[in-house]
Formats: sequence, C-alpha cells, structure tokens
Amino acid sequence: GAPIDLDLSPVAEGQIIRVFWRGKPIFVRHRTPKEIADEQAVDPATLIDPAPDSARVKPGKEQWLVVYASCTHLGCIPLGHQGDWGGWFCPCHGSAYDTAGRVRRGPAPLNLPLPPYEFVDNTKIRIG
Ligand code: FES
Repeated sequence: GAPIDLDLSPVAEGQIIRVFWRGKPIFVRHRTPKEIADEQAVDPATLIDPAPDSARVKPGKEQWLVVYASCTHLGCIPLGHQGDWGGWFCPCHGSAYDTAGRVRRGPAPLNLPLPPYEFVDNTKIRIG
C-alpha cells in the first residue's frame, strides 16, 4: 500500500480519529497537556511492556499519538477514553491501555504497535 497523508489540524484536543492504512485501522489521538504530563511521569520500569512516553511519540509533537487500533492480545479494536488509565479499554478480555497506548493491564502482553509515520509539516503526517 501507498503512504497516506493526513491533515491533523481538524482533530481537536482530546479527540481520537480512526484511519485505515493497508487495510488496518490506526488511531490518531490528540492528547491533552494533562495526559502528556501524566504519561511522562510514569516510571517505565513499572510497565508490562516498558517504554518511556518519549519512545511513543515524535519529539516536539508529544500531543500526537499514532498507534495501530489492534489489541495485542487477540486483535480486537479497543475503545478510546475508557478503562482505568483513560487511554483505551479492550471489550474482548479487559486489557487496558494508557494515553501513550501502553498496556497497563493484561491479558494483552504488549503496547499498541506504532505504525511507520513522520511529520511532513507542522500539522500533517505521512503514514507508511
Ligand atoms: Fe483485547 Fe483480548 S483481544 S483483551
């Protein structure tokens, strides 16, 4: 599949949109300042799949999280803004993710995967 360009400027703070690339759903989340600060404050060593917030986003673009919309347990699509960590909750078997897409409660073993993408200007990303 070809890369896709996505204009993020219509995505309001707090909003999650879903797009498709290579037939797979991807979430793009516009994180709030509080969500960013909360995730940056987490000690990665306490996590199931340890990763600092900085490894989940692009430098200087910490408000944007781009992840595959696929639970790493058995592939259900998690629900945004739900679960005890406010990120996503998987309705299939109860896994919970934070607003960095990091798994905080299993059975999912891994964080939501990051698709390949880059910023092509201040408000536009290219996925692929
Ligand atoms: Fe998400 Fe099982 S598929 S918890």
